[in-house]
Amino acid sequence: MRTLIKNIKELVQVERQPRLRVCGKDMAQMETIKNAYLIIEDDKFAAFGSMDELKETNADIIIDATGRMVLPSFCDSHTHLVYAGSREIEYIDKIRGLSYEEIAKRGGGILNSAKRVQEASEEQLYEDAMGRLEQMISFGTGAVEIKSGYGMTTEAEMKMLRVIRRLKETSPLTIKSTLLGAHGIPMEYRGRQEAFVDLVIDEMIPQAAAEGLADYIDVFTDQGFFTVEDTDRMLDAGAKYGLRAKIHANELAYSGGIQCAVRHNALSCDHLEYTGDAEIEALLGSETMPTVLPGAAFFLNMVHAPVRKMMDAGLPVAMASDCNPGSSPSCNMQLILSFACVNYRMLPEEAINATTINSGYAMGVSDMLGSIAVGKRANFYITTPIPTYEYLPYAYGENKVARTFLNGKEV
Ligand code: NIG
Ligand code: FE
Repeated sequence: MRTLIKNIKELVQVERQPRLRVCGKDMAQMETIKNAYLIIEDDKFAAFGSMDELKETNADIIIDATGRMVLPSFCDSHTHLVYAGSREIEYIDKIRGLSYEEIAKRGGGILNSAKRVQEASEEQLYEDAMGRLEQMISFGTGAVEIKSGYGMTTEAEMKMLRVIRRLKETSPLTIKSTLLGAHGIPMEYRGRQEAFVDLVIDEMIPQAAAEGLADYIDVFTDQGFFTVEDTDRMLDAGAKYGLRAKIHANELAYSGGIQCAVRHNALSCDHLEYTGDAEIEALLGSETMPTVLPGAAFFLNMVHAPVRKMMDAGLPVAMASDCNPGSSPSCNMQLILSFACVNYRMLPEEAINATTINSGYAMGVSDMLGSIAVGKRANFYITTPIPTYEYLPYAYGENKVARTFLNGKEV
């Protein structure tokens, strides 16, 4: 099956020599081709160039994209999109002045979602998550990482992971799954947190590994949640089963999470509101992708991670939605682009690199997704008629995605 898209106003984020990630100053660079064509053979990009170079115009499907742009789909490398119910009542508590940590301490927050996930059927969780995936696709996402973490018991965590496996099998999106057994401390383990860490190590990790349910392992390493020592134990245990780390770090304090992630050669460490010189130093030269979650920082009205400082130091930066019912109830990566530019003063090119190639790296798929390159998986979207690609972050709140293609097929 051959698809030809012609007269593309601008083909954005093309790579002739594909890279796995983009660092520092290079984040401001992004190749585009004006008045371009793109050819897809089956599920892969086969060729692209400017319209004057187009020779072979035969194809099974021909699309005229006059006035529209084509971009690679977003990679959303951090989500919690399997959940039950919503938490708008806590949102009101936050407006009234309660902090995220205060809500968590009195059994709200993650524990609130855990209770609902424990009560929900696998079928219901699957259907709700599938609806969210469909919404994501319509906003231009082509790959998503999904975490467990609202289980809190081995049984409920495995239920969540089985839902993610079913989503992998039935959705056209590229999906990676992460065991986040250590997302919060259940009430009955308060004061004996080590026993809960033991449960993660002795039951959750071996069971998830035995059923092949997880690609990665995550821990909420932060003030009031899991310590660096807890995290070391769990990540060592995960590594024995081949689970690479992707951890929540430094959202609430300078908690040592970033250094811990680097020590374990984590694929990513995420949130990073509290990133200082020592943390930047630790990340430099590592293979760990610093990942910022602008939706959570916006929704919780938090300080912003020092993204410019990180890029100036030569680091790569990725961005993801963190889609979850507590701190970021949106899966719209176009909004993340706008937050990147407004709240972190990123240039549109930097924001696009952060949400495509670098977020692809942060979920281990940038060898096949995250840019338009020959041989890569054809996950992309055609925009509505827009004047420039800078218009994408600029016109926040408007859906600029008109048609989406996953694995070479329109969805
Ligand atoms: O990534 N920070 C920890 N975990 C989630 C929040 C989950 C929740 O509040 O339900 C996050 O923001
Ligand atoms: Fe998260």
